[in-house]
Amino acid sequence: MSLSNIINNTNGANGAAHDPLDSLLESVTASVHAFKTGRQERDRVAALKAAQELVRSLHQPKDNVYHLVYSPTQAMCVRMGIDLEIFTTLSKSTEPLSLKDLAAVKGANPLITERILRVLAGIGYVEEHDVHLYKATRMTQQMADRDSVAVVKFIYDYGMSTVAKIPEFLRSHNYQFVDGLTSGPWNYAMGHEEVIWNWFGADPERLDVSSSFMEADRGSRPSWVEWCSLPAQLVKTFDDTSKDVFMVDVAGGRGHDLRTFMDKFPDVKGNFILEDMGHVIEQSVEGLQAEKIAFDLFREQPIKGAHVYYMKFILHDWSDDQCHQILTRIGEAMRPGSKLIIEEFILPEKDCPMLSAMWDWEMMVFCNSLERSETHWTKVLSEAGFTAKFYYPPGDGQGIIEAELK
Ligand SMILES: C[S@@+](CC[C@H](N)C(=O)[O-])C[C@H]1O[C@@H](n2cnc3c(N)ncnc32)[C@H](O)[C@@H]1O
Repeated sequence: MSLSNIINNTNGANGAAHDPLDSLLESVTASVHAFKTGRQERDRVAALKAAQELVRSLHQPKDNVYHLVYSPTQAMCVRMGIDLEIFTTLSKSTEPLSLKDLAAVKGANPLITERILRVLAGIGYVEEHDVHLYKATRMTQQMADRDSVAVVKFIYDYGMSTVAKIPEFLRSHNYQFVDGLTSGPWNYAMGHEEVIWNWFGADPERLDVSSSFMEADRGSRPSWVEWCSLPAQLVKTFDDTSKDVFMVDVAGGRGHDLRTFMDKFPDVKGNFILEDMGHVIEQSVEGLQAEKIAFDLFREQPIKGAHVYYMKFILHDWSDDQCHQILTRIGEAMRPGSKLIIEEFILPEKDCPMLSAMWDWEMMVFCNSLERSETHWTKVLSEAGFTAKFYYPPGDGQGIIEAELK
């Protein structure tokens, strides 16, 4: 039962008023119990949602507004915690560390450091062991991980000023879509004239942060090779006497998804191909047994007749018109029987998980683009000459679309 239903329904069957908190508590207890019993991803997501409803109901509405609009300061303090090496220092220490010790690592002012630590303790990214004495938590450990550092740097350093400007940008366009490679909010807010993907490539640190972000962006959600029946079918239906390429990872970054697939199915005979912009594949993951080809999504697809063309988080970077061009280039290269596998969020029409609802806005921030629902994907794919079958993930992660030429 949703929070609004519970609040509007405060009388029990016998007419006696009951406390809405009781129903919320029951819902949290039942959903946590279901998760503890089966350890299923969908139960974990349901339990988290129930717990969040309980937390929301404990906020006074007026105070909730403050918590909401002040919440960017949480990310800001995490970002500064990275600069001050608070997470790496604490996670390496077997003893609690003092404020003085932590401030000294980068020579920061102790009062500024304390102000940062106060917020980090409030969100569980460090623990206050005693007054001015701090210990690592599991979030401190997580923030000592290079992938999580890249996620925070990517979103904070390259995206936050655009987040602040999006209302102004959309207001100035009467809240309409503005198509064009360099006419979106990111170019507007950052004052850059170039395409974002070229901007990443123009600086080695930026390129590393952006590629690391892409490698980390699955988070702990299971890969499609774990939850979806399709990968095994694709392997089974491959004719390995045919000399066809088995799989092309179209704009596959440094090749992390290809490696996951190859680790899961080490006996596939056909070739694997990694395609991306030249400066990205130059840095492909170590030991990847795949041919690397620099290509352009908008030009002729260099590999013809592969068994599988796989694209993860590519089409969500582009508008419907741009997707049409990309899909047309792939369709031209496919042979009858080739599959196009698209890994993307498939937004439900109702009760959209917050993760993909927020991701949708991050796409607007960085790429002037969007996430799509099943209806929207079907339209985009159909207009480019494809049929589509949808596979939904067990939790709140991205789904799989199996597309074939009509
Ligand atoms: C969101 S990332 C996804 C990467 C990878 N598939 C993944 O899921 O981690 C988009 C990728 O598209 C590549 N890309 C952007 N524009 C491109 C273009 N015009 N031609 C080829 N690749 C491009 C970028 O370099 C980047 O690796």
